[in-house]
Amino acid sequence: MSDTKMPAIIAHRGASGSAPENTLAAIRLAAEHGARWIEIDVNISADGIPVLFHDDGLSRCSNGHGLVIEHSLNTLKSLDCGSWFAAEFAGEKIATFDECLELATECNLGINLEIKPCSGWELPTIDAISQLLNSKKTLPPIVVSSFSHLVMQRAAINLPELPRSSLFLVAPPDWHSLLTQVGASNIHLHGNSILTAEMVTDFKNNGLGVYCYTVNTSDEARALFDIGVDGVFTNYPKELLEQFGT
Ligand code: G3P
Ligand code: MG
Repeated sequence: MSDTKMPAIIAHRGASGSAPENTLAAIRLAAEHGARWIEIDVNISADGIPVLFHDDGLSRCSNGHGLVIEHSLNTLKSLDCGSWFAAEFAGEKIATFDECLELATECNLGINLEIKPCSGWELPTIDAISQLLNSKKTLPPIVVSSFSHLVMQRAAINLPELPRSSLFLVAPPDWHSLLTQVGASNIHLHGNSILTAEMVTDFKNNGLGVYCYTVNTSDEARALFDIGVDGVFTNYPKELLEQFGT
């Protein structure tokens, strides 16, 4: 199994405060800013190709309309995924997960692969991603996560060698059973005020790494590190790395 331990500062959707989220430009910038790991969201196209995109719908982060799952990779590749963020990123294309793997390897980045299926498409999505990963001879360090328990169960079967993290907004009462069912090494949670030092201690006593999203200020990060959180996902890796190191 590859390393389950991610660093304290992880670039959320790449350096997404400074470049359009989930694009190769945002990943490159995260590396330039000194990040050692990125978090990305992966969905699939109509023809089953894993692509980086956070939303089910195309309109927020591209000039397209409708759903990612409705369009072939060919159509998705014709979209502009950069202008919505800033003119300097005009023409930035949707990234395939394959391109992301290649760039992460080149830049020496680990990847928290968040699997983000369109509702009802959980199994085709994890299966397509698994097929791609299992076709590779070598991979960068990867930790797989998802809000979908179904996806996590399938990841445990399809990708047994890759460490897994269960992802929640707030840890549910049955977190221990859910994480045990999927053999998760880490728990990823929203960095909100519900999370207490006692809860973090409880997770850690159960052998889990604890990571929080989305943490964009040093004060928020410090408060979470103070209660024992191992790492944070941030849109501003440069600023947090300057403050906390890697
Ligand atoms: O993986 C952590 C975080 O990215 C989960 O929420 O909505 O930003 O993908 P979201
Ligand atoms: Mg995400």
